[in-house]
Amino acid sequence: MNALEVLKTRRSVRKYLDKNVELSILKDLADCGRLAATARNIQPCRFVIVTDKKRKLKLSELVTSGKFINDAAACILVFCEETPFMIEDGAAATQNILLAAKAHGLGSCWIAGYGRPYQKEVESFIGVPENIKLISCVSVGYEDGKAETSKKPLEEVMHIDCWKE
Ligand SMILES: Cc1cc2nc3c(=O)[nH]c(=O)nc-3n(C[C@H](O)[C@H](O)[C@H](O)COP(=O)(O)O)c2cc1C
Repeated sequence: MNALEVLKTRRSVRKYLDKNVELSILKDLADCGRLAATARNIQPCRFVIVTDKKRKLKLSELVTSGKFINDAAACILVFCEETPFMIEDGAAATQNILLAAKAHGLGSCWIAGYGRPYQKEVESFIGVPENIKLISCVSVGYEDGKAETSKKPLEEVMHIDCWKE
């Protein structure tokens, strides 16, 4: 699958097969996160790959909008050092991970982290230092079924040269 196909066919996957994902692949997803654009090239992102079943279960209990983390082979947590552009930097890294997962034939879902009621609980569960903040959680695994999400047509969201209704 080429890059454009990956971009255009990625969808959030919340149902997973009970099948492990090779650690080397999970590390590659974090590597693709590492290589995302960051403001002033500060590279504030840090990644924690969780595959341990008990720890995944605990995460799925803490992260109320990501109960399906428990069914995924792994959850990659995206953290950032506290910097002025950490949200944008963490978001770019997260999107890279989603796309890399698709390229590896995996399903994934972006789960909100920063500003959510469980943010601090997840940070202390993982044991990160005070200046490291949770930006997102990404569930990853082999897809069970086929996820579909409807998208607005291009004509509805794009303008050329100026805003015309
Ligand atoms: C910033 C952000 C936060 C999200 N948080 C959650 C979440 O907490 N739980 C969840 O199931 N999906 C979450 N999603 C996934 C969106 O629901 C999903 O991207 C959206 O419905 C569009 O579907 P698609 O990813 O298949 O294109 C989040 C996506 C983004 C970009």
